[in-house]
Amino acid sequence: MSDRFVSLQKLSLAYGQTEVVPELDLDIREGELIALLGPSGCGKTTTMRAIAGLMAPKTGKIFIDGTDVTRTPANKRGIGLVFQSYALFPHLSAFENVAFGLRLKKMDNLEVTSRVEHGLNTVGLAHLAARKPAEMSGGQQQRLSLSRSLVMEPKVLLLDEPLSNLDARLRLEMRTELQRLQRETGITMVFVTHDQAEALALADRIVLMKEGVIEQLGTADELYNKPASKFAADFFGFENIFAVSDAGIVGNKGSLAGTFEAQDGHLAWRPGAVVVGKGPYEGTVTGVAFAGEQREYVIEAALGQIKATTPATDKRYEIGDSVAFDLPLAGAWHLPEGRQGVLMAK
Ligand SMILES: Nc1ncnc2c1ncn2[C@@H]1O[C@H](COP(=O)(O)OP(=O)(O)OP(=O)(O)O)[C@@H](O)[C@H]1O
Ligand SMILES: [Mg+2]
Repeated sequence: MSDRFVSLQKLSLAYGQTEVVPELDLDIREGELIALLGPSGCGKTTTMRAIAGLMAPKTGKIFIDGTDVTRTPANKRGIGLVFQSYALFPHLSAFENVAFGLRLKKMDNLEVTSRVEHGLNTVGLAHLAARKPAEMSGGQQQRLSLSRSLVMEPKVLLLDEPLSNLDARLRLEMRTELQRLQRETGITMVFVTHDQAEALALADRIVLMKEGVIEQLGTADELYNKPASKFAADFFGFENIFAVSDAGIVGNKGSLAGTFEAQDGHLAWRPGAVVVGKGPYEGTVTGVAFAGEQREYVIEAALGQIKATTPATDKRYEIGDSVAFDLPLAGAWHLPEGRQGVLMAK
């Protein structure tokens, strides 16, 4: 197994004068499912287009399976592509959609039939082989689109937000499906999403991007529990992030005096870590929402907004109520200036 199955080396990508990715270095392991995650416009699709060969890099190199493919045309790179829009042929049956690429390769009919049947089976669509895409549900079309790429036996499968057209329940189903397919086929997959929950659920490793630069690269556990920067912490649900000063912590409106025992940088709390109903600080409830098993509060305090959640069984506060709260040091995530983040102890 190669640790550099797909290797992007000092890749810089631009549309005309607009530089999107300044200089990207990324090694993707053979057989892993890696997620590119980041806000809209950070360069995820652009990076995928470069790997696929749909756009030439300004500078830098791309290696796939040890071969420099920087100048290799898209159709010679051994890459499969699944995009958000399924791009299925509407006039062809499911069978013929999957067979299309194989026929282009001039494969003989028996081989095509056997591969297509296997391909449709893998995604649970064998019984719909004769249907046209329009006669299939969104999830079925999505699986058909996957199957069509898989039968080509690509070295690398690139998936650009393939689940974003599906409703919540189908998305969950397809996530599981994708993971299973990945384990069974062992194909290296690069998966683009801007949904952190999806990346956390699916990926062996996550690449968090910001403005074309890798902000952090690691396992789901590392990114979720040990964000390396304010940006990463914010992206992974630390909704309360404040600068630490001698006097206490500083928000966008003011400061909160207290002993936070952190010398510099920022302190971050997830909404669930904020104590509501008791504590040394006082704020006003300006928002409350019921979300299943918990209640979400927005509390306006001296330093700005605090986001908090409490179990739905706890006392309920209404908009306009004055409420005591605490930002306990134990459990806060500390992001010191220029050093690794740490979890604050009691
Ligand atoms: N054809 C193009 N010409 C000029 N600029 C482009 C072109 N395509 C994309 N861009 C710009 O490049 C940047 C990166 O776009 P890209 O599509 O890679 O973002 P993304 O991370 O995939 O975002 P999203 O999550 O919205 O899909 C954006 O600022 C975008 O406006
Ligand atoms: Mg995109």
